[in-house]
Amino acid sequence: MSSEDLRQLFLTFFINKGHRLVPSSSLIPADDPSVLFTVAGMQQFKPYYTRAKDPFRDIHLSLGEPLQASNVVTCQKCLRTTDIEAVGDESHLTFFEMLGNFSFGGYFKEEAIALSWEFITNYLKIPTERITVSIFGGDKELPYDEESYTYWKRLGVSDEQIISGNRETNFWGPVGEEGPCGPNTEIYVDHLEVWNLVFNSFYRHSDKTLEPLPLKGVDTGMGLERLLLVTQFPNQSNKTVFETDLFSGLMAILQADSQINEVRNLRIIADHLKSSAFLISEGIKPSNIERGYILRRLIRRILRYSELVNLQDNYLEPAIDWIIQKYHSIYPEIDNKSLILEVLSDEFSKFRQALKKGLKEWHKIAGELKQKNILVVNGAIAFELYSSFGFPLEFLKEIAEEEGMSIDEEGFAEALKKHQEISRNSQEKKFGGHGLKGEIQNTEENIKIKRLHTATHLLQAALREFFGSTVAQQGSDINPDRLRFDFSFDRKLTPDELKKIEAWVNQRINDGLVVSFYETSLNQALQDGALGLFSQRYSDQVRVYEIKDPKTGRVYSKEICAGPHVSNTSEIGSFKILKEEAVSRNTRRIRATVG
Ligand code: ALA
Repeated sequence: MSSEDLRQLFLTFFINKGHRLVPSSSLIPADDPSVLFTVAGMQQFKPYYTRAKDPFRDIHLSLGEPLQASNVVTCQKCLRTTDIEAVGDESHLTFFEMLGNFSFGGYFKEEAIALSWEFITNYLKIPTERITVSIFGGDKELPYDEESYTYWKRLGVSDEQIISGNRETNFWGPVGEEGPCGPNTEIYVDHLEVWNLVFNSFYRHSDKTLEPLPLKGVDTGMGLERLLLVTQFPNQSNKTVFETDLFSGLMAILQADSQINEVRNLRIIADHLKSSAFLISEGIKPSNIERGYILRRLIRRILRYSELVNLQDNYLEPAIDWIIQKYHSIYPEIDNKSLILEVLSDEFSKFRQALKKGLKEWHKIAGELKQKNILVVNGAIAFELYSSFGFPLEFLKEIAEEEGMSIDEEGFAEALKKHQEISRNSQEKKFGGHGLKGEIQNTEENIKIKRLHTATHLLQAALREFFGSTVAQQGSDINPDRLRFDFSFDRKLTPDELKKIEAWVNQRINDGLVVSFYETSLNQALQDGALGLFSQRYSDQVRVYEIKDPKTGRVYSKEICAGPHVSNTSEIGSFKILKEEAVSRNTRRIRATVG
């Protein structure tokens, strides 16, 4: 059965069982600022589970009318980057489609389980021996899901086919910081998890407390690609989603062009091309924050892996043609070939420049090590190159070899593991261990980034105030913990100078200066005296941010910048310099934070 038939079969099955067919929502959630992307089919229905919205009375955001149904069915496009490192194996993907049936106040466990069983065994005719199920086994806070066990047994599933899981494996949600969640039961075919049936029974608040929901809900999700795999290739553990028709044509295009047929790398390229194409078709542009950052990361990985398999850029057009052809009847927005190709090529050329910079840094490091007769690059240095310039281990190994050197791979793996643990822990603390970290951006973090951004402009203004206009920005980088500002200056700043600069910025914060922007042509912006970063290529139309004292009219800062910024400097709170150091002979670096 083709993917087209399988998708339709699922939707028709549930329509015939009294469900309303609702179109896929956008990959960008309409009204949930705590989540970057749509990671599950239930997101567009979140308010119905809590009764914040009534499906019969309130307008559904994208339909423009009430749902008029308590049972609905969708095929939802989703994007998750949580498992990006696993892409290329049997079944992990960043872009995928989720088939789901949902009920808010209609039916609950018994019917949901019976419907899924009927679909899998009667419609798809998957033999029961290939199926196992899991149920929630209970823990200190919540009981064993006795009901699900009973219903599976009633359908003839044997005890050996029923596994019980814990909070990690068999309790789903919420998406984002708070929301509906509950125990789940999963269906596995040929040992691959294909369908997740969630019984929304609680509202989880941001302080992690669970409050029973007034109404019981069903939220299910089945990965179309995985289901296709087990239907197109029953019992064949050597097959992957990349051999199903949702990928095979695309893989063939890549395989025909690549000089080195390393299939895992080609799979990564295929997956990331799809996710990038869908993101671009929804208007996302590569950038250093939020959604744009995820897109940038995906595109840069495409380029890196393409270089590893010697793919020249001319595969892009046929590959994008294939994606459009495959999906446009289901997701018409994908039909935007010129935009997709333009964004991809543009980001490719930006990344090629970054690679150049990284290689320069590498040659410096390699030279220093060789001088000391060190021929093995230690793990920490290798990891630094990986994280700052995006050099994958394979690439590091190659460039080291060219210098007659090698990489301490164990040390690299340790550094990587440590880094992943740190980021996993901090994300899990914030988001309750749900693990959808890539897509979720704490709004507090966004606000902090804005404050740091505006503080960077004030810092540049302070430096120019004290040292004159020879101070020019050489680079800037912001993460939620700190800002980093590189500028041209030929000596170390004294502690006293640093104190004065810090005080100057804090004074401007206390003054409550107004931050605003206007859009104009690049030429006009430069004529207006706006500062820019001249190593950067700007588009013809730019944004100029001004920081101005509303009382005196004095303009403290005027820079070409895309933002985002706070609207008043008082929102920054306070400014603190953490460190000042040399980057090169004529460039200094200041790290600072806001409190
Ligand atoms: N919302 C559930 C999931 O994403 C079905 O797995």
